[in-house]
Amino acid sequence: MLFDPFTNGAVSFANRIVMAPMTRCRANHHDAIPNALMVEYYRQRATAGMILSEGVPVSDRARGYIGTPALWNEAQADGWKKVTAAVHEAGGVLFAQLWHCGRISHSALHADGSPPSGVSNKAAATSKTFIIDKSGAPAMVDCEAPVPLTTEEVKDVVRQFAYSARLAREAGFDGVEIHGANGYLMDQFRCPVLNDRTDEYGGSLENRYRLLLEIVDAVAQVCEPSRIVVRQSPLGVMNDMAADPDPLVTYPYIAAELDRRGIGFLHIYDQGMTWINNPASPLMATLRAAYKGAIIACGGFLRDNGEAILARGHADLVAIGKPFISNPDLVARLRQGHALTPFDQNTFYAGGATGYTDYACDSMS
Ligand SMILES: Cc1cc2nc3c(=O)[nH]c(=O)nc-3n(C[C@H](O)[C@H](O)[C@H](O)COP(=O)(O)O)c2cc1C
Repeated sequence: MLFDPFTNGAVSFANRIVMAPMTRCRANHHDAIPNALMVEYYRQRATAGMILSEGVPVSDRARGYIGTPALWNEAQADGWKKVTAAVHEAGGVLFAQLWHCGRISHSALHADGSPPSGVSNKAAATSKTFIIDKSGAPAMVDCEAPVPLTTEEVKDVVRQFAYSARLAREAGFDGVEIHGANGYLMDQFRCPVLNDRTDEYGGSLENRYRLLLEIVDAVAQVCEPSRIVVRQSPLGVMNDMAADPDPLVTYPYIAAELDRRGIGFLHIYDQGMTWINNPASPLMATLRAAYKGAIIACGGFLRDNGEAILARGHADLVAIGKPFISNPDLVARLRQGHALTPFDQNTFYAGGATGYTDYACDSMS
């Protein structure tokens, strides 16, 4: 099944393998415009059924790491046009992952030196980020304490996502993924431990998901709902998060809300790579019952467990991350049973072309 074509609403894929979104920090931080190296990187991986781009900040203050290509102005959209054209020419499908890092950030990353924005003032005590320090050298530093967004600023964030989605459409992306996972801004709002707000974005589950759903609704004004993906990471603890205390209520709630809106894809990432592969775990079955769109499963998948989750009916597509870094022709390698090239973690977030566009791509497709 993994290698079968798949159609979902307005979008068709050559196979059911998705390249997972992966930040690679190869853009110039100053202008955040995608460059020629990125064009080549995405072109090399176009045989994935669908590529989800690296996280793309929707505003300067949404940034949480150096060198992340963004999508808040026309110059950035023009840069992305070259990427989408190359992927399309190679037969691929590319969605932009729209991103706001929230408290996982540092004032050195923002042009105006503003502090990270958060759901509350609770800092991510043990999380690090990459900045350029005062001497101009790259440095790994603690995230700074955030300043809570005012209610009006929350509404600005909604508008920023909608504008970014408009630019994504102009840039030729086939759709967008709204990054609601991994301890970034929308996940921070969902979290009952971090979210101590007293406005309409805090308190009940409905209120804590209000930001995500307002963003979904605003993006759906500029992008067909069937071309929207929402990413969630149930039980995730990455970026100093507490695991959700009530996952069998929380995640079916958001799945049902997305279903009601006709959103095309729900992307579920199991950071621990445990429950998603366990047929007896109730979460995936519960999500499947709540959501009729396409489910993308992610977290430690390759051929055998990918086929198994599709056969179980718990997912329609399988997203694969790290193996795509070092195997641009991953789909052909999995299909032909070829050995995989190991990835080098030292070049995940730095290194120019090294560890980025220089991995061999030698399988016959
Ligand atoms: C280098 C790197 C960068 C990542 N950047 C992002 C990102 O920008 N957005 C996101 O949602 N997940 C990101 N992830 C998580 C991946 O999308 C994926 O969920 C994770 O790698 C697990 O899949 P895998 O086991 O197939 O690698 C990143 C992972 C890696 C290794």
